Amino acid sequence: MNNTVVVGAQWGDEGKAKITDLLAEDADIIIRYQGGCNAGHTVVVNGETYKFHIIPSGVLYNDKICFVGAGTVIHPESFKKEAQELLDRGVSLSSLKISPLASITLPYHIDIDGISETSGKTNKIGTTKKGIGPTYSDKIGRYGLKIQDLYDEEFLNKRLDDILPLKNAALEKVFNSKTYSKEEMLKYCREYAEIFRPYVCEDWVKILSDALKHDKKILFEGAQGIMLDIDYGTYPYVTSSNPIGGGAGTGSGVGPTNIKNVIGVTKAYVTRVGEGPFMTELLDETGDKIRNIGGEFGTTTGRPRRCGWFDAVLSRYCVLVGGLTQMAITKIDVLNDFDELKICVAYKDKRNGKVYEDYPTNINLHNYLEPVYITMEGWKQDLNGAKSIEQLPQKAKDYLKKLEELVGIPITIVSVGPDREQTLMKENPFKTKVLI
Ligand code: IMP
Repeated sequence: MNNTVVVGAQWGDEGKAKITDLLAEDADIIIRYQGGCNAGHTVVVNGETYKFHIIPSGVLYNDKICFVGAGTVIHPESFKKEAQELLDRGVSLSSLKISPLASITLPYHIDIDGISETSGKTNKIGTTKKGIGPTYSDKIGRYGLKIQDLYDEEFLNKRLDDILPLKNAALEKVFNSKTYSKEEMLKYCREYAEIFRPYVCEDWVKILSDALKHDKKILFEGAQGIMLDIDYGTYPYVTSSNPIGGGAGTGSGVGPTNIKNVIGVTKAYVTRVGEGPFMTELLDETGDKIRNIGGEFGTTTGRPRRCGWFDAVLSRYCVLVGGLTQMAITKIDVLNDFDELKICVAYKDKRNGKVYEDYPTNINLHNYLEPVYITMEGWKQDLNGAKSIEQLPQKAKDYLKKLEELVGIPITIVSVGPDREQTLMKENPFKTKVLI
């Protein structure tokens, strides 16, 4: 059993899609386990760029089963658009399956997300305004709708009788926003039922039980990143789901004893979109240089990403809470042209000099902390010729070795460019032998 989770081990946008896409080739089943259309996963195949939001990129291989799991929230119109765009480009969605237990993002979830972000609130989160937080809030509050509810009109009627009076009172009185009649919502739900119908997978329990019984290879695809986890991220500047490795269990329906590896995908530096603490953020021209070379602008919102040096304190924390067994380092080529590279090894309290080697989870404390850096020499050369990690320039290997040493888990994958071929893999969890 080699079932493997791919999880972002920073604040999202680490290049998970590329790693997932690569590992998917040897997997039988790919399951996206949390998040919604807030995610933007870019995959480049033969020079063609594909952007995914909720559909697993594994659909690009036509012999894999691709699940959108119970832990996700799905906005029907966005899903429809994404699916149609793929179909128009000749991608088959015949093996795409949606869990009937996934939650639905309804129109008022989007309204509420937008209003919450634009109202006079002092602490904005900087959300993607895709209705993610309000959908998960309703799920946890038991006021949500699941996909399976769409196919039982009697049940749906009763649910809407319970849900709508409360929602409408909040929309009107708290958010000063448009309310929704039951007829309107029923009309929406009938449309949604048709959007999802070809993909809803009623027999997912049998499919996954059989897969485990026959030792099929399952790849779990996370969205966002560990530092955006609702429980372990920089709360409240987080998303509303559990990207951590453990989220793969709750969000897919496959329990934790069936997972062996958790690959933490980490850029060779750090980026973040939206608000919240970021210890190694560079607000100077070095930050601009990383942003420009790395093309660090959001896939979903187009926002410029905040950029900074690699933070080993944060990565060690991700190893713990994410259950990481190995790291994939992406976009190391973005650092090709730097004389010096810094790595944050600890945080120091500016008030009293106290040094933190373990990540302090109280983000209020971060206002008083500053990064403690070590400096490494840059390799100042193109990495394109390298066909294996071993063939990288010595100084790039020294940088990676230092990251391994500081974070405490092996680096098994290094990405040196956007194409599938530009990924150097030491170990593929779905192939038993060590490759290089
Ligand atoms: P939400 O997920 O739209 O509620 O946004 C909450 C926080 O997560 C914001 O800081 C977003 O910028 C961030 N976020 C959500 N999805 C992604 C993603 O796919 N990549 C990076 N950041 C994300």
